[in-house]
Amino acid sequence: MKQKRIWLSLAEMGGREQEFIKEAFDSNWVVPLGPNVDGFEKDLEDYLGDRNKRIVALSAGTAAIHLGLVMLGVKSGDEVICQSFTFAASANPIVYQGATPVFVDSEDDTWNMSPRLLEEAIRDRIAKKGKKPKAIVVVHLYGMPAQMTEILSVAREYEIPVLEDAAEALGSEYKGKKCGTLGEYGALSFNGNKVITTSGGGAIVCPSEEAAHRVLFFATQAREQAPHYQHEYIGYNYRLSNVSAGIGRGQMLVLDEHVSKRRHNHARYVELLDNMRGVEVKKAPSSDYNSNYWLSCIVIEPSQAGFTREDLRLQLDSENIESRPLWKPMHLQPVFADAPRYVDGTSESLFSKGLCLPSGTLVMEEDLQRVASVIRSMAR
Ligand SMILES: Cc1ncc(COP(=O)(O)O)c(C=O)c1O
Repeated sequence: MKQKRIWLSLAEMGGREQEFIKEAFDSNWVVPLGPNVDGFEKDLEDYLGDRNKRIVALSAGTAAIHLGLVMLGVKSGDEVICQSFTFAASANPIVYQGATPVFVDSEDDTWNMSPRLLEEAIRDRIAKKGKKPKAIVVVHLYGMPAQMTEILSVAREYEIPVLEDAAEALGSEYKGKKCGTLGEYGALSFNGNKVITTSGGGAIVCPSEEAAHRVLFFATQAREQAPHYQHEYIGYNYRLSNVSAGIGRGQMLVLDEHVSKRRHNHARYVELLDNMRGVEVKKAPSSDYNSNYWLSCIVIEPSQAGFTREDLRLQLDSENIESRPLWKPMHLQPVFADAPRYVDGTSESLFSKGLCLPSGTLVMEEDLQRVASVIRSMAR
């Protein structure tokens, strides 16, 4: 008989979510505003700990990235630099705005945007297009903070705003500051597989109260102040419902626990896979990078390990263990075949050699050991 399935990253409720949902029903606040939305935004602001930032809860992380671009004035004909090694949702909203994504490869230390290639891309776009890119979308992939000091320094030099895609990085810190608060805008996701969930949802981290008001305006159909429906801008229906926000408030109570559990999973993989030839668990390059380890990832060097990433993925699957290749870079995606790119093979190599291991809060010690023993058995 097959052993129980071990999943990559499942949602886990803390226990108090239903109290907040019940409150929403009892008070008839089952609309996209209300006390749970306000409470959830406040909880997130307190958690992120940057007094200048304001949060607006939205229907998805993708909506947060989209509205971030809207707020940065990205329009048709603009170019926006985007990390290539990411999920498509980092890049798609650039196209929603009629702009062109320009993909930049990663560096090896954090797997996020290479500051060197970022600068090369900016210079070359200015030379070729006669105007600079309108924004930079940098991602903290798998929860690992990007090299923000270097990236922000390039961004400042060319006066281009940075939008942080922190969808996977709630709870991660860079030099003691929470990811999502480092750029002009930040995007968070509460999708079902993230560190906390609202079943589906997201939030945007804004630089000021005025910016948050403007985001709210765009997120609620850009309705002007008038007794009738008056519209001077294109708007969106991107607000989070008060019911979903209730789940979020419950989840905020267990956020620290969830982050600790994912860090614990990662630390256990490091121990369990120690000294394996050709198999490396990805670790933070230094204590400046305090990852939430949303997903624990390994890289397999086939010439040393004697097996490939795909050999291992299939073996894990046959043992009823879910794993997944690292993100396929955007510059290799057919839909972005025509997009300019500044790449050096780093993300392409990671895609071919890397695998995400089961990393959720419901992964138990015996599960971690089961995963590790399948990986170890491959070496024989
Ligand atoms: C890196 C990254 N960006 C953006 C998103 C989009 O978030 P959402 O699914 O909440 O729209 C996700 C997750 O789905 C993600 O992993």
